[in-house]
Amino acid sequence: MIILDGKKISNDIKDEIAAEVKKMKDKGEKVPHLAAIIVGNDGASLTYVGSKVKACERVGFESTLVQMSNTTSDVELLDKIQELNEDPEIDGFIVQLPLPPQINEQKVLLAVDPNKDVDGFHPTNFGKMALDMSTFIPATPFGILELLDRYGVETKGKHTVVIGRSHIVGRPMSILMGRKGFPGNSTVTLTHSHTKNITQITSQADIIISALGVPDFLKAEMVKDDAVIIDVGITRVPDETKPRGYRIVGDVDFANVCKKASYITPVPGGVGPMTIAMLLKNTLLARERHML
Ligand code: GUN
Repeated sequence: MIILDGKKISNDIKDEIAAEVKKMKDKGEKVPHLAAIIVGNDGASLTYVGSKVKACERVGFESTLVQMSNTTSDVELLDKIQELNEDPEIDGFIVQLPLPPQINEQKVLLAVDPNKDVDGFHPTNFGKMALDMSTFIPATPFGILELLDRYGVETKGKHTVVIGRSHIVGRPMSILMGRKGFPGNSTVTLTHSHTKNITQITSQADIIISALGVPDFLKAEMVKDDAVIIDVGITRVPDETKPRGYRIVGDVDFANVCKKASYITPVPGGVGPMTIAMLLKNTLLARERHML
């Protein structure tokens, strides 16, 4: 069994990005600038956005954090997005999801300039991705592809089962794993809350990508020998023994599933750090695009 070490690979990627930024600086060019908008004060979202800002510092990017109150209206958020769209200093930005209930998420995603949409959530970019055109690939799926690529995990002709159909992970992942090329060329099954007999499906999978958010959902008896297991789950479970009062738990019963897997991602230290590294990568691509 081989651990797909997202922490190590994400550090390698950040080193590669930092080297590119240094070259830009040496040539007197503007360095990439990522902005993040966060609405409200959800603890997990604040942690993710904080990590994104810290990662920017680590590679030499400029970063801007825009914090808006929980009672922000659609119009106020759309005005802020317009401001960032028009600001020549900003190469790319994200609006952290989920948003409070009074805000129409679809309107928000449509308002982001597709050339600055480093999340790859705008329909133009999502459509380009589905049509094999060059574009921003959503950071978590992009991170999973990069892990499979850097470890040389074979995906061609394999049966990939994706668990969960979210717009952020499951849906794009199902499209990307079926694309021509590497990683890709898989036969993909997308499972969700209405899927019947999920064990029957997962037990036939060569590759399982679980993005459900249910701790320890995937048990050893649901997995065949030598399967590749990618765990996207990051649920906070209360734990008095931890300084923060919680621990992060994945979708996979790691202790038992790892005995059957050929490759497996840990939680934490698997997909999570890759998401941040690929957001930086998309921001570097945005900067390079804006220079053309
Ligand atoms: N919430 C959870 N994951 C993501 C992500 O990749 N991007 C944004 N904007 N929000 C998220």
